[in-house]
Amino acid sequence: MTTYQLVATAAMGLESLVADELKKMGYETHIDNGRVYFEGTERDIAKTNLWLRVADRVKIVVGKFPVKTFDQLFEGVKALPWEKYMPVDAEFPVTGKSVKATLYSVPDCQAITKKAIVERLKGHYRRLGFLEETGPKFKVEVSILKDVATLTIDTSGNGLHKRGYRTEQGEAPLKETMAAALVYLSRWTPARPFVDPFCGSGTIALEAAMIGQNIAPGYNREFICEDWPMMKAEMWDEVRAEADEAANYDQPLNIIASDIDQRMVAIAKNNVLEAGFEGIVEVKQMQVADFTTYYTDGVMIGNPPYGERIGEKEEIEKMINTMGTVMRKYPTWSVYMLSSMENFDKIYGKKATKKRKLFNGAMKTDYFQFWGQRSPRKPQEPKA
Ligand SMILES: C[S@@+](CC[C@H](N)C(=O)[O-])C[C@H]1O[C@@H](n2cnc3c(N)ncnc32)[C@H](O)[C@@H]1O
Repeated sequence: MTTYQLVATAAMGLESLVADELKKMGYETHIDNGRVYFEGTERDIAKTNLWLRVADRVKIVVGKFPVKTFDQLFEGVKALPWEKYMPVDAEFPVTGKSVKATLYSVPDCQAITKKAIVERLKGHYRRLGFLEETGPKFKVEVSILKDVATLTIDTSGNGLHKRGYRTEQGEAPLKETMAAALVYLSRWTPARPFVDPFCGSGTIALEAAMIGQNIAPGYNREFICEDWPMMKAEMWDEVRAEADEAANYDQPLNIIASDIDQRMVAIAKNNVLEAGFEGIVEVKQMQVADFTTYYTDGVMIGNPPYGERIGEKEEIEKMINTMGTVMRKYPTWSVYMLSSMENFDKIYGKKATKKRKLFNGAMKTDYFQFWGQRSPRKPQEPKA
């Protein structure tokens, strides 16, 4: 096995959670410019793709060097050992990014990178003509930040948020990676009841269920690197078998996903079925004002509608205020709401214990946290 320099990319604000996930898996990490770097073998590439819940992608860092001219870019790219990863028939599209850099023309940087890799591979594989690119795909990225070029190859393919359970989605679905982050940040454990009263397509509840039963989020999907010569099929089988072994399908869960909209409820039910949680995650139609529970110490997580459309805002504010009133009846419940309304807590009628800035796609939001009181301990039976 070879050791690779790897990087896990994540949405802005979620890097530290990805670093935590990697640390829990036993990797040493360091964060630089919103990217989480770590080292690992082919097996680790498979494992991290399978298990990371919050990261967008896992990439191999092929090289990093200072660059100010196209010549330097060409020579720098050509000097990297591309043949270590790519066979002679590799297909390798190149994308690019340039931020605060002297080389700002991204199409030129991409074309030069492509040409330099072609030169390198032709030299190594002793080819005179053009490369046919009929084999496995390697998505190369040249990213130049402040005159430093970083060359990466994506190992994930489709973003890791694509878990493979989403059949249809609602109007404003949360990315699965963000939903997993919301569950992590709530410190919910499977022993506690869980409710998402604005479930839409059911993303948050499903991520909670997978966390609760320790199910690898990538178990039901494929990754682009599975076709690469260095990523052996037996190794994938082992890593997947280990994941199956680690899953705790018998862990009881008390998870409810509800929504006011019958269409959303139908979509969420379908997704729950697809994810294999039928009969485990309960989906029902309900408006948040009607929430009642016999349980204590529960966790409620959701992203209510933001009220972008004219006339909607007032109605939504009224609904959030009602939710605040309803939840005052359940002081041991913790409530976590992701909202772009800056004064959400004021409307809810309670000062947030904590707020955390997060981006929901391009939208600036806050994660409002209202921590519940601890349940009073049950009185001890007097000793005989
Ligand atoms: C932003 S979406 C939630 C998206 C969801 N997290 C997902 O991943 O698909 C907000 C949801 O709140 C629901 N909703 C709006 N008003 C509601 C109310 N009063 N009670 C319960 N649900 C409501 C909408 O039908 C919509 O599905």
